Amino acid sequence: MPGKPKKACIVGSGNWGSAIAKIVGHNAARLPQFDDRVTMYVYEEMVNGRKLTEIINETHENVKYLPGHKLPENVVAIPDVVEAAKDADILIFVVPHQFIRTLCSTLLGKIKPTAIGLSLIKGFDQAAGGGIDLISHIITRNLRIQCAVLMGANLAGEVADEKFCETTIGCRDSRLAPLLRDLIQTDYFRVVVVDDEDAVEVCGALKNIVACGAGFVDGLGLGDNTKAAVIRLGLMEMIKFVDIFYPGSKLSTFFESCGVADLITTCYGGRNRRVSEAFVKTGKSIKELEDELLNGQKLQGPYTAEEVNFMLKNKGMEDRFPLFTAIHRICIGELSAGEMIECIKHHPEHIPKTTYVEEDETATETKTTG
Ligand SMILES: NC(=O)c1ccc[n+]([C@@H]2O[C@H](COP(=O)([O-])OP(=O)(O)OC[C@H]3O[C@@H](n4cnc5c(N)ncnc54)[C@H](O)[C@@H]3O)[C@@H](O)[C@H]2O)c1
Repeated sequence: MPGKPKKACIVGSGNWGSAIAKIVGHNAARLPQFDDRVTMYVYEEMVNGRKLTEIINETHENVKYLPGHKLPENVVAIPDVVEAAKDADILIFVVPHQFIRTLCSTLLGKIKPTAIGLSLIKGFDQAAGGGIDLISHIITRNLRIQCAVLMGANLAGEVADEKFCETTIGCRDSRLAPLLRDLIQTDYFRVVVVDDEDAVEVCGALKNIVACGAGFVDGLGLGDNTKAAVIRLGLMEMIKFVDIFYPGSKLSTFFESCGVADLITTCYGGRNRRVSEAFVKTGKSIKELEDELLNGQKLQGPYTAEEVNFMLKNKGMEDRFPLFTAIHRICIGELSAGEMIECIKHHPEHIPKTTYVEEDETATETKTTG
């Protein structure tokens, strides 16, 4: 995309939205291929009697969602999403997934037809006909623009602290990949681009379900071995899910930051794990805990578990994904957290894959080959 400097807009300003605004603002100011001014759509709310957009534009800090970190001064907070996005060449979507359809319908016909999207949103939406929709597909369909994805082991607070980490961009169009990488990469935030877009996005969504399982393990006080078993079985279900529903994806994608690395970090550090632990310990509902513990931030795991279950149930496949199914049933109160362990004791992964050779046959074989 040679020519005029590209304008970037960040659609969203939560914890991750603000952390990525820090990076994008910094890169836009220093690199000639980008316009200095970066707009950031902020869902307006009052904080201590003042509008959040005014606070951000005056103090350059998102005091509600990323307190203690300065945003670059070229990042401008705007409460109207159409105003924020209308001139942008690159739209970075980073809102909780439950808001994406409404935002797309507000933006339809109001953005540049040549704009490209980059979705940082982890989650799915229910599709008509009993399946699930990837968020990047919803953006592409509803806004009629291309949309790549960025997922990785990227807890927002640590990225904002500039602690080293990696991330994965899934982008099918090799002409766009360098532009997106340059906008996002810094010396502490390293980008690997792969073309396996759908698998990257599915990893980012599914790991939040597994994180709930890890939180249940912590709530039950079961220890690191049990948590490792949940992480491993979760990874196997993620691979199976991609294999069945997104055939043609690559196994190697699971070894990028968006795969096993994000799974591990979320199962130790993320909000889904934390709330799920509290769910077991307090007996309160997920919704109550989300309101109580997250200060306006949104949970993804229980909703993603519900969306995945909606599809698995429709396809008669719940038994093939016992961990995802158990986690969903625990979140909605159909099972107790302790029953998750019962469900995974008999996981299909534990069915022997090799046929054991009888002892005397081994002896014969040893004699023959020896
Ligand atoms: N926080 C992280 O560490 C992290 C890391 C990687 C990916 N993500 C993903 O990024 C996405 C955004 O998460 P986040 O952490 O930036 O957000 P968040 O959960 O911290 O904050 C919620 C955001 O939603 C906004 N909001 C509330 N009601 C709204 C509405 N009706 N319409 C539009 N916006 C509304 C709030 O103003 C706030 O900006 C999620 O999909 C999440 O899974 C988060």
